[in-house]
Amino acid sequence: MGEVNVIINNQKIVAEAGETILDAARRANIRIPTLCYLKDVVKSGACRVCLVEVKGARALLSACTTPVSEGMVVWTNSERAIRARKTTVELIMSNHNKNCLSCKRNLNCELQKLCQELGVRENRFEGEYTEPTFEDASPGIVRDTSKCVLCERCIQTCMTRSSRMSTACSADSA
Ligand code: SF4
Ligand code: FES
Repeated sequence: MGEVNVIINNQKIVAEAGETILDAARRANIRIPTLCYLKDVVKSGACRVCLVEVKGARALLSACTTPVSEGMVVWTNSERAIRARKTTVELIMSNHNKNCLSCKRNLNCELQKLCQELGVRENRFEGEYTEPTFEDASPGIVRDTSKCVLCERCIQTCMTRSSRMSTACSADSA
């Protein structure tokens, strides 16, 4: 793999060709908030929390799915990117059971931290809520739809695990 030169927040960075804006930024200690991203498991671009501004691009791009390219200029902290990120989290919260005080994840919750970081304190979007259902058939995953943020982590984790298991089984039987 070769190298590409990019500029993130006015900082020159030598990135690896093919890596994402998020990976290049992290190696340079530039923080981009994420929610659905899970290293080596989920890069679905589902949540849109990691939106960044890229010179020449009309729309904001998700840092976790967009590969770097030579000469790319990125702003992770422009007013437009921060505003879009906040609106995204406000929309997620508009369909969220916000009973943090009685929630198991209180004070250990990525979504709660994002709300604090982005200053999401009010219900800006009111509307219908998804019918709550609670699934705990699996010992590994409990899914409460009143708090589901549609990050797809549970789906991708199961798919990754089952594909690794079938690869291991094929290797065993070879
Ligand atoms: S999952 Fe939702 S209700 Fe629970 S602590 Fe996080 S933001 Fe609050
Ligand atoms: S973290 Fe990039 S789209 Fe969710």
